[in-house]
Amino acid sequence: MTPAAELCQSLSQARAQTDSLFGLVDPAALYERPIPERHRIVFYLGHLEAFDRNLLGPALHLPAFHAGFDQLFSFGIDPDSTALPADQPADWPAENEVRDYNARVRRTLDAALAQAPGNVPEELLHVAIEHRLMHAETFAYMLHHLPFEQKVPPAFSAAPSGPSPETRMVEIPAGPATLGRKHGDGFGWDNEFDQHQVDVPAFAIAQHKVTNGGYLEFVKTGAAPPHFWVRRDDQWFYRGMFADIPLPLDWPVYVSHDQAQAYAQWKGKALPTEPQFHRGAGSQPAAASQAAPLFARENVDFRSWDPEPVTASPPNPLGLSQLVGNGWEWTATRFEPFPGFQPLSFYPGYSANFFDGQHYVLKGGSPRTARCLLRPSFRNWFRPAYPYIYATFRLVEN
Ligand code: AVJ
Ligand code: FE
Repeated sequence: MTPAAELCQSLSQARAQTDSLFGLVDPAALYERPIPERHRIVFYLGHLEAFDRNLLGPALHLPAFHAGFDQLFSFGIDPDSTALPADQPADWPAENEVRDYNARVRRTLDAALAQAPGNVPEELLHVAIEHRLMHAETFAYMLHHLPFEQKVPPAFSAAPSGPSPETRMVEIPAGPATLGRKHGDGFGWDNEFDQHQVDVPAFAIAQHKVTNGGYLEFVKTGAAPPHFWVRRDDQWFYRGMFADIPLPLDWPVYVSHDQAQAYAQWKGKALPTEPQFHRGAGSQPAAASQAAPLFARENVDFRSWDPEPVTASPPNPLGLSQLVGNGWEWTATRFEPFPGFQPLSFYPGYSANFFDGQHYVLKGGSPRTARCLLRPSFRNWFRPAYPYIYATFRLVEN
């Protein structure tokens, strides 16, 4: 297969992934807004196709057939909780209109791609695939906060759980961290370039992510509980994707950056910086850290809906567990451009709109992060008070 044909196949696989997520939503819930700061579900139904159309249509010389929807569904909201969106369900088009638009976008794009695959630079196809796969995660965490009755659960099982394990601090000597991606090494988003080194003083970092059990100690002192927890009859539950589970003490805790930071302070420790996270991951080249045998054990790539114990997979050569998978990890680093940053000409706002000091970098990946996004240079970012994502943390001592 040619590279373009392979990318088209990856795009269809990504479509199957997002289609199956929409299949989990009770049709009566399509106009709900599970996260108050974000758009209603129906926006996401139109967004994935509108994005591909806006991205690939010009390169394929496809005339617009519904400029209104191309525009309506083009961009989401960066949730600034001081101003919640106030639109009503009736402000949005009917489901069948959106589904017809989607089908026609796919038909016309696929026909044009089959006819002249060379018209579309590979970089654009990567952007379409990875954008869609990122939404496979953002849409999953959105559905996570939709009431159970409004979801159609697939067959699933939750991982076992046990007592919260002891964690040890691993000493990392002073040395260089390699961040970012080299031009010519394959697709990366604008914020991943250029590759560069940062000198990191010696520090110690926890082998494991902080667990629900660990965080419970903090909540018992009066700290606010994580958004993913519910209390019933004097007992805490983790709110899973399809069921409440008696709080699994050895699973990583999902929290906001603010909560992670408060816990670290309470412990007299800190969150790792982005360079410290890279030091902990070791200096393996991308190919080695993405090696199949290592990855096969991690909770990534849509393997489950919820976390598993922090001890469920073996440590890396430095002794750290689950730097990839089982929950993104908040860092102490604000999301900023690397030296030499250049926005993508056809999508200038992808990262640059968020270099405002109001977002923090997350590294690693969650159970719902697609395999292709697990490369070491990939950077995720969210606002520090945002409590809805599959994000956890580990502690460092400086
Ligand atoms: C990189 C996950 C923070 O969801 O806001 C999706 C990805 N950008 N559509 C987000 C994104 C545009 C972005 N994150
Ligand atoms: Fe998007």
